[in-house]
Amino acid sequence: MRYKKPLDTLLKEAAETGSGTLKRTLSSFNLVTMGIGAIIGAGLFSLTGLAAANNAGPAVTISFIIGAIGCAFAGLCYAEFASMIPIAGSAYTYSYATMGEFVAWIIGWDLVLEYALGAATVSISWSQYLIKFLHYFNLQIPPQITMSPWEHVTMADGSIVHGYFNLPAVFIIVCLSLLLIRGSKESAFVNNTLVILKVAVVLVFIGVGWQYINPANHIPYIPKNTGTFGEFGWSGIFRGAGVVFFAFIGFDAVSTAAQEAKDPKRGMPIGIIGSLVICTILYVLFSHVMTGIANYKEFKDSAAPVAIAIAKTPYAWLQESIIIAILAGYTSVILVMLMGQSRIFFTMSKDGLLPKVFSKVHPKFQTPYKSNLFFAVFVSLFAAFVPVKVVGEMVSIGTLFAFVLVCIGVMVMRKSDPNTPRPFRAPWVPFVPIAGILICLSMMVSLPGDTWIRLAVWMAIGLIIYFAYSKHHSLIRKGIVSIPTDTPPPMA
Ligand code: ALA
Repeated sequence: MRYKKPLDTLLKEAAETGSGTLKRTLSSFNLVTMGIGAIIGAGLFSLTGLAAANNAGPAVTISFIIGAIGCAFAGLCYAEFASMIPIAGSAYTYSYATMGEFVAWIIGWDLVLEYALGAATVSISWSQYLIKFLHYFNLQIPPQITMSPWEHVTMADGSIVHGYFNLPAVFIIVCLSLLLIRGSKESAFVNNTLVILKVAVVLVFIGVGWQYINPANHIPYIPKNTGTFGEFGWSGIFRGAGVVFFAFIGFDAVSTAAQEAKDPKRGMPIGIIGSLVICTILYVLFSHVMTGIANYKEFKDSAAPVAIAIAKTPYAWLQESIIIAILAGYTSVILVMLMGQSRIFFTMSKDGLLPKVFSKVHPKFQTPYKSNLFFAVFVSLFAAFVPVKVVGEMVSIGTLFAFVLVCIGVMVMRKSDPNTPRPFRAPWVPFVPIAGILICLSMMVSLPGDTWIRLAVWMAIGLIIYFAYSKHHSLIRKGIVSIPTDTPPPMA
């Protein structure tokens, strides 16, 4: 038998207020900034240069547009679901209502790859930029405590130093977890400030840099394919889209805050689609300027392509401001990812699939503080001990997999519950979800084989937990569709 979460129960839970529930404090504006907060980060500031140098040349702008179209298909499906079922839990919850408990578990477990490991990935890049920033003040952190044990650096004297663990990455994870415990409203305020800062610097870069575009750098706009698939030409543009996909991850994080939105039916589509559209416009302009100021070949192997471009202008002071903005940008990405992760486990725990500790809400702050603490440790372990490439690829495969399931879910739900009100309807169903599935699957296929093995191992661990614990504690299986509201203390 397939155990599904009845839609009316979900809607009832979404309408619940009072102690033990999450506070509804986020406006549509907060949701758009939350989306932008999660989206603009390592993808724009690090991967644009690599995709231009290795795959697409100046046509990395077209790669961004293709990546955005793929995400927009999935984004429209997310928006339909999030406005229809405005409850924390995102894709996990949607699958529970459409495809049943087992698929819901798989997706909830898979989302850890997107959110928890997403936070870990960006915290590692954050630590690299922090080191650059401290250089301006002649400060240096011993290299051993800035990288994982699998990495090393060659010092000026030729000696090789191996890493122990990445301390700055752990530092930022712990600080932001504590902020999240303090409250969503406080976190939204910090996030708004960080987002304004990073968007301002992106705009300054575009505005100032535009005058220094050397048209010769944009000729040819689509460099000729080298003969190898994915190296320039149209195949390079598509491979580039797979690379910059990471830059779009995060818009779906808006849907995890549905239960904290003041008006989720309106706010969800605005938050998801609005943040995606704004970021796409910024990305295209940013990458156009970047490849116009410096030749795309100069970005090869550089983790800080923006610095290379700025060095070509007379505005050297912009270097420092850009690094501050990048640090701010990364901070907001990590914040939203950590928040999304704790909300998903919150919901899974409320359903009985995970221990109750994950849905324990702080009596004063009304945040799932134990979940935040757990993930502070879990994410820190990855941030400290795993190289960025490994976690980054796991984030991409996990996210794409979630997108595929959400697209399938929209089609299933249109058949199974055709009459349920949909404040926002994805247009051209089934074309949009099917196109979303195909684009996401093709990007998954372009990821390396060992990423698939890691995905399989992670999912195998998830299945063991499901059959050993979740199945036996599932409230729906016990005939309880929702945790009684008088459970003391709130949701304990
Ligand atoms: N989109 C986010 C970033 O680029 C994950 O950092």
